[in-house]
Amino acid sequence: MTMKSFILLALSLTSVHMTTAAGSAAHRCFCQVTGTLDDCACDVETIDSFNNKEIFPKLQKLLSSDYFRFYKVNLNNPCPFWTDHSQCGLKYCAVKPCTPGEVPEGLKSSSYKVLLSHIDLEECEKAEKLGAVNGSLSDETRQALQEWKKHDDESDRFCMLDDVDSPESQYVDLLLNPERFTGYKGPEAWRIWNSIYEENCFNLFLIKGQGFYRWLEGLCVEKRAFFRLISGLHASINIHLSARYLLDENWFEMKWGHNVSEFQLRFDKELTEGEGPNRLRNLYFLYLIELRALAKILPYFERPAFHLYTGQPTEDNEKKKSLLELLHIAKSFPLHFDETALFAGNKKEAMKLKEDFKLTFKNISRVMDCVECFKCRLWGKLQTQGLGTVLKILFSERQIEAMPNTSNTNPSFQLSRQEIVSLFNAFGRISTSVRELDNFRSLLSNIKQ
Ligand SMILES: Cc1cc2nc3c(=O)[nH]c(=O)nc-3n(C[C@H](O)[C@H](O)[C@H](O)COP(=O)(O)OP(=O)(O)OC[C@H]3O[C@@H](n4cnc5c(N)ncnc54)[C@H](O)[C@@H]3O)c2cc1C
Ligand SMILES: *[C@@H]1O[C@H](CO)[C@@H](O)[C@H](O)[C@H]1NC(C)=O
Ligand SMILES: *[C@@H]1O[C@H](CO)[C@@H](O)[C@H](O)[C@H]1NC(C)=O
Ligand SMILES: *[C@@H]1O[C@H](CO)[C@@H](O)[C@H](O)[C@H]1NC(C)=O
Ligand SMILES: *[C@@H]1O[C@H](CO)[C@@H](O)[C@H](O)[C@H]1NC(C)=O
Repeated sequence: MTMKSFILLALSLTSVHMTTAAGSAAHRCFCQVTGTLDDCACDVETIDSFNNKEIFPKLQKLLSSDYFRFYKVNLNNPCPFWTDHSQCGLKYCAVKPCTPGEVPEGLKSSSYKVLLSHIDLEECEKAEKLGAVNGSLSDETRQALQEWKKHDDESDRFCMLDDVDSPESQYVDLLLNPERFTGYKGPEAWRIWNSIYEENCFNLFLIKGQGFYRWLEGLCVEKRAFFRLISGLHASINIHLSARYLLDENWFEMKWGHNVSEFQLRFDKELTEGEGPNRLRNLYFLYLIELRALAKILPYFERPAFHLYTGQPTEDNEKKKSLLELLHIAKSFPLHFDETALFAGNKKEAMKLKEDFKLTFKNISRVMDCVECFKCRLWGKLQTQGLGTVLKILFSERQIEAMPNTSNTNPSFQLSRQEIVSLFNAFGRISTSVRELDNFRSLLSNIKQ
């Protein structure tokens, strides 16, 4: 049964109760998921309509292109914190890496493309024609490349990046390995979430059964924001597994679709000691933060020398156009998050706080290497890396400009291909979650109490 027919079936089976139930199952998940969000000047309804109508369809299309669907990742990093015993035994956890033949030729050499994008368009084209970067570069460009490496933006980073040149790193086709229900749960999964919340959230430990949200009120805005980002990510992952749940399986096929009870277990107010709706609000908060980063990064992609390089010039140009279009829409959002409200105040304290923020987030990105389920590890790494890139964009000290000042010795802001791919795919996940909430809202408003 497809997702669509599942919805239709659910609708037709339950329509009898529509008037009497008055949507109270939906009410229990969504009643507080409305109106203004805390710590920002935005409301849920504006995000819903903006995302579902303007962002979601365009973004999905973009993410299905070759540039964005192939993600290079090292899934074999050992867990740095403890010895992980069991590999998730379920077959749904497996990730199928690409064979070399499946990855477009152009992509394999394109990490250089990104390196070069700030140097000189002509040089880039010359390099492109020769099919390799090495022999064809002028001394000047080579020097610039070395400079660039020396001035690597490590200090800007919030996330550990995999070494994409390591033989352990492999391309994964994200469209063939979708984020969905895997059956990864129990003590192993909790250990990851616990270590994130309890050891990596500035020692804000969360007492089970006590309202996290209320409890967070005394915190400074930055730490509260940090917690909300993580909680939003957690909510997004759990929405995805509820929306693409393994409903049935036989010899011929597997049926994936919405499992409304699973969603309720995680987000219904009464079933979560009041926490569910807060988790959904945190998802919207995360959405706003990521959206703001996209608006801010626009000039970077407007550079003429920037290419979404896969080796097919016509398609690459088209994709760049759609990317810019999407970013202009993101920029047009009327109620953007104001990141200057964070790390403001006393300069010295703010710097210290930002440093802590960075170290903590980096540590969380390393915890992802401890996730036993490979599919979950893939998307966990991608999403933390994407969020790390978002934070880098929002809080970098470097200028993000369309025309980098070549006489400026201070190198300008840079993103690697890996950061770009994770940035947009991570936002794609959050955008899909917001879209899915609409589906759950209708499914819930039709169920019998
Ligand atoms: C990095 C990572 C990626 C994963 N990816 C997948 C996947 O792709 N597919 C899949 O099927 N499973 C995935 N999982 C597993 C999934 O997230 C759950 O851990 C699992 O389904 C068990 O759920 P649970 O109900 O026991 O609570 P969990 O989701 O494990 O949550 C543990 C506790 O955290 C609290 N909590 C729950 N949600 C939030 C929130 N949003 N904010 C704050 N606190 C919260 C609650 O107190 C809860 O009891 C992943 C897990 C991790 C750590
Ligand atoms: C790149 O450099 C390597 C090693 O120096 C050389 O073998 C190769 O032919 C060069 N490629 C091009 C296109 O010049
Ligand atoms: C990093 O995470 C691990 C695992 O949760 C934890 O033991 C350690 O204290 C963390 N380190 C820092 C610097 O936060
Ligand atoms: C949906 O989720 C619930 C709660 O986890 C589970 O009991 C039920 O079996 C699931 N439904 C299907 C069709 O798999
Ligand atoms: C470029 O940078 C140099 C050196 O920092 C500076 O003197 C110059 O004014 C800058 N030019 C522009 C257009 O910003």
